[in-house]
Amino acid sequence: MTSVENLLRTAAVRPMASGRVFNFSAGPACLPIEVLQQLQQDLVDLRGSGMGILEVSHRGPLFDQLLDESHSAFRRVAAVGSEWATLFIPGGATLQFGMIPMNFLPDGGHADYADTGLWATKALVDAKTVGRVNTTFDGKAFAFNRTPNANEAAPTPGAAYHHWCSNNTVDGTKWTVVPQAAAGGWLARDASSDLFSEPLDLRHHGVVYAAAQKNLGPSGMTMVLIRRDLLGKACRKLPSMLRYDEYDKHESRPNTPNTFGIHVVGLICQWIERNGGVHAMQRLAANRCGLLLQAIDQSGGFWRAHSERACQSPINVLFRSPSSELDSSFVAAAAAAGMDGLAGHRSTGGIRASMYNAMPLEGAQALADFMGDFARRNG
Ligand SMILES: Cc1ncc(COP(=O)(O)O)c(C=O)c1O
Repeated sequence: MTSVENLLRTAAVRPMASGRVFNFSAGPACLPIEVLQQLQQDLVDLRGSGMGILEVSHRGPLFDQLLDESHSAFRRVAAVGSEWATLFIPGGATLQFGMIPMNFLPDGGHADYADTGLWATKALVDAKTVGRVNTTFDGKAFAFNRTPNANEAAPTPGAAYHHWCSNNTVDGTKWTVVPQAAAGGWLARDASSDLFSEPLDLRHHGVVYAAAQKNLGPSGMTMVLIRRDLLGKACRKLPSMLRYDEYDKHESRPNTPNTFGIHVVGLICQWIERNGGVHAMQRLAANRCGLLLQAIDQSGGFWRAHSERACQSPINVLFRSPSSELDSSFVAAAAAAGMDGLAGHRSTGGIRASMYNAMPLEGAQALADFMGDFARRNG
């Protein structure tokens, strides 16, 4: 009996020893089981305080300690120096689509945006509500199946910053080169789906941000790295919650912050450190992705990948069978076998396997086996 048949036979049985499914959702996504178990404990009694993490004061000494630990762990994993501020900001990555131009797109100036996928488009559309935007790359014509090469997405003179999305979650692509910023400008990177899945390259950057719900913890908050010299350089007057320097001045608590989320980010960063750091995460991502690509390549044309191979995201792998009906039955059969969250984004259809840091290699192996079996039975 193949491993897939075994999984199907025991469909009611969960595939992981812990009794959990393999969750391939694009985010919120799977988190490390030991972090979840630690949180179970912390919800009831945080470090012997007799109160849970949701109950302790955000200004009390216990939370001071957690905040400090989360900041420190995040900074260690990011390997940033003192010239960078690290901020916990509510509102998801989408709030950064607005905050960056509100702070740094001056009246009469312009910013560059590379349009490489659904989220990059949303960032660009939001920036246009604030000021003048130049599109340095437009991937719509080829359904966002590739990212720019070294000769494309050139910045334009005078652009305040150049915004790029390094890993396109919905479209399954990643950049193979780092874009350039105009002279005097800097790069703004949306790293929501690949922060800490590889070493962080901060060269030429002013801001890097990532929504937490993929590699870092709960949805509704975002990690922002911002160059210290940009703090306080907002080009217009803004309410306090939209100003980066306010978050920095108040240690990410200009108001009552997401105390739970901040704690989770700290635990996850410590988990990354215990498991070999970002280099190990990068190797794991490449191995997981390699298993799925091999299943696609060995299917005799049954499975087709969406992305050009050179631009394939190691995190989000999009593929299709010969028909949308087969895609749907694959997603349903996989779910019955304990592999959840495989339906493609509503804008693209097909199948999408999202594999963030907490996805074990066994999850990718189970999916690859399942793909092979499905192709043989339906090809
Ligand atoms: C690359 C990217 N940017 C931005 C977002 C939006 O994040 P949020 O929903 O937290 O605002 C997502 C969400 O999936 C994403 O994948």
